Amino acid sequence: MTQSTADQQATAAHRLPTIHDIDTRPIAVTPAQGTDLDPIWAAVVPETRARGNDIHLPISLAYAERLCAAYPGANSLLVRVAILLHDTGWAHVDEERIYSEGFTGNWRTAEIRFEHERQGCEVARRVLPGLGYDAEFIERVVAIIDGHDTRIESNSLEDSLVRDADRLWRFDHVGIATASTWFGLDPATYCDRLAREIVPELLTEAGYRMALADLERSNALLKTAVLR
Ligand SMILES: [Fe+2]
Ligand SMILES: [Fe+2]
Repeated sequence: MTQSTADQQATAAHRLPTIHDIDTRPIAVTPAQGTDLDPIWAAVVPETRARGNDIHLPISLAYAERLCAAYPGANSLLVRVAILLHDTGWAHVDEERIYSEGFTGNWRTAEIRFEHERQGCEVARRVLPGLGYDAEFIERVVAIIDGHDTRIESNSLEDSLVRDADRLWRFDHVGIATASTWFGLDPATYCDRLAREIVPELLTEAGYRMALADLERSNALLKTAVLR
């Protein structure tokens, strides 16, 4: 067993377990269900045009719904609304700085990251009241969006599911195609980085198993063993 595999298994012991089924099939076979969130989608179309959100947000919503199925104790509406809106703030920050600061150096703590979180909270507070969501629900959505990239700790089960859904889309080949270019990495190097840096961050057993299944498929599909 390699050291990295041993490390991954050791970290896995701390992940939130589930007794429910975990769907590890390709995400494209289970798109997000229902039309109840369509009014929110319609309200944030301009925000989906920033930073690949029109790819990232729907795919992450599909992952979030799978995670909710694996953790039925979670408030699924809260998880679904929060993941749909979490990155809408990227549309309200300086586009140039997204790439110059958001994906280089110490990108996790770049000021632009805090800004996109604050702006995302503003989008939620602007859009949700007119669509029939009450103040308490909206503040729970905002509490998840606020710090979703920069806060170390998860504050709730719903927060953890949003965090894992936000990461899981990158393991699908579409996420790899999109996000590897943001970091200026070739697909094989980006897949290595997913295994090394993102897998250990996953908080749930379901997210972990879905990520590993996706990564194995993506590495095979993209021929990363030789295209490096
Ligand atoms: Fe974000
Ligand atoms: Fe995100």
